[in-house]
Amino acid sequence: MTSKQTIFQDLPTDLDRYRLPKHVAVIMDGNGRWAKSRGLPRIMGHRRGVDTLKDLLRCCKDWGIPALTAYAFSTENWGRPLEEVDFLMTLFERVLRRELDEMIQENVQIKFVGDLSSLPSSLRTEIERSMALTQDNQGTRFTVATNYGGRQEIVQACQKIAHQVQQGLVQPDEIDEALFARHLYTAHVSDPDLLIRTSGEMRISNFLLWQLAYAEFYITQTLWPDFDRAEFHRALCAYQKRDRRFGKV
Ligand code: IPE
Ligand code: IPE
Ligand code: MG
Repeated sequence: MTSKQTIFQDLPTDLDRYRLPKHVAVIMDGNGRWAKSRGLPRIMGHRRGVDTLKDLLRCCKDWGIPALTAYAFSTENWGRPLEEVDFLMTLFERVLRRELDEMIQENVQIKFVGDLSSLPSSLRTEIERSMALTQDNQGTRFTVATNYGGRQEIVQACQKIAHQVQQGLVQPDEIDEALFARHLYTAHVSDPDLLIRTSGEMRISNFLLWQLAYAEFYITQTLWPDFDRAEFHRALCAYQKRDRRFGKV
């Protein structure tokens, strides 16, 4: 462990523990560029990115942030070269198998959101196992968006509600924001307060389109594999300086 990590083990003193975000979402971007800048294949960036995510999850626990959601694979990412997609699917599976015991020990509750039906079946097995074995855990709520697309999520919610209307279980005018949100993949967790995107892109790339309605955005040039506790600290400082008005004055 580096000395920097030791210093930031506890909540940094310039952060107000009562005004921390309850839910942080991250678009983990820039793995490919991180690798390329070192003359390495893109997959090395993904590998390093896993370590970054692992430390961020632990940091949320250490600093008292109850929920973390990470964008791991978008519905659009299937358009990447086959070798990269295959590598990512295998990496997700290996990491899950390797980290599950520790997540159980650390009381993490892991959930996967997205269209899981089209993931490789061996990955799906690990996903189901990890969700089942951590479902009663009361620690950090860790949500991983895999084969996730915000538009796809909204369409599937509409389909579910339409079926209920067809069966006479729901009346059309009973459909309100709360009912709709219960049919999204994220019904288990509050909306993110803070969205972090690494690598400088100013877009949300189909992530949590509904849920980010009033999130604070923090975009850093830092590439995901380099996003450490000091960077997270900066993001939280920026967040605590924001005036969240929610449309009011
Ligand atoms: C994010 O890093 C990881 C995934 C999308 C899986 P990228 O792979 O998008 O890295 P860049 O943006 O090409 O540098
Ligand atoms: C967003 O990153 C998806 C994930 C981080 C999983 P991308 O690299 O796919 O997004 P774009 O292509 O730059 O919008
Ligand atoms: Mg990218």
